[in-house]
Amino acid sequence: MDIHTDPIEMQTLCRSIRRKGRTIGFVPTMGALHEGHFSLIRQARAVADICAVSIFVNPAQFGPSEDYAKYPRPFEKDCDAAGREGCDLLFAPKSSDMYPENYLTRVAVIDITSRLCGASRPGHFRGVTTIVLKLFNIVQPDYAVFGQKDAQQAIVIQRMIDDLHVPVTIVVAPTVREPGGLAVSSRNAYLTKSERDDVPRIYQALHLVEQAFEKGERSAQSLKSFLESRFAEARFFRPEYCEIVDTTLLKPLDHIKTTALVAVACRTTESGTRLIDNVVLGALKEE
Ligand code: PAJ
Repeated sequence: MDIHTDPIEMQTLCRSIRRKGRTIGFVPTMGALHEGHFSLIRQARAVADICAVSIFVNPAQFGPSEDYAKYPRPFEKDCDAAGREGCDLLFAPKSSDMYPENYLTRVAVIDITSRLCGASRPGHFRGVTTIVLKLFNIVQPDYAVFGQKDAQQAIVIQRMIDDLHVPVTIVVAPTVREPGGLAVSSRNAYLTKSERDDVPRIYQALHLVEQAFEKGERSAQSLKSFLESRFAEARFFRPEYCEIVDTTLLKPLDHIKTTALVAVACRTTESGTRLIDNVVLGALKEE
């Protein structure tokens, strides 16, 4: 596995790979790699000739009171893991090379970025779309793989790709979960013992909503009330939002005709960790 830190060097290398007719599958990450990231790496390897992974804790997507400083950065361990999982090219730029002095440009998708997570994290998605477009311009991938775990992020990036005619195909990979159902996340490392025991309820509740939908319930209000009643029983987390929205504009639905995104964000009470999860109703299930 080749490791690059210089954006221009990485861009030159990726251009030469593409010129030779080889395709690039790209997985952007903030590091602290886990099973969720590994599944995206495997997906990138399955669709393209060369697998590129970036590790960059992007300051522009963290709010002033968020965990940028304490975000885990186990770089050596990440390099070993990425190599083991079959990454060919690892890009780990310095912040000063991505946002040098006099840097002034931002890329913003409007409207859908102020809903769900955007409501409590102003500027977050602008930071994400800015870094992702920069990374796409450096890596020039044919495919870029994102996780369903961050459903709104994947929808916002797809919107940017379509709106700006960016020549990349977005692949969305299923959420990887722990045996109890908790979505794997770098932030799970912050959880206390009591919180760890309580948070599997998040997916358990989402799964019950899925089952109710499969049995024929189509009222978004009923499904939402049910979800809220399950969360009211939790002792070590509180929901920040529970929404049932359409999968393009993220607008709340009354009646579910075909598909819907059920998205939740919760805050734990001891460590103050923010966890998100979601299920898509009416989507074709993978075997
Ligand atoms: P990060 O949180 O490191 O996540 C990188 C990718 O891994 C994202 O596409 C995310 O959806 C996916 N992922 C995380 N947990 C997952 C899980 N349990 N199952 C499946 N996929 C999972 O998301 C970011 O970084 C950043 O915002 C980034 C896109 C890199 C821009 O800075």
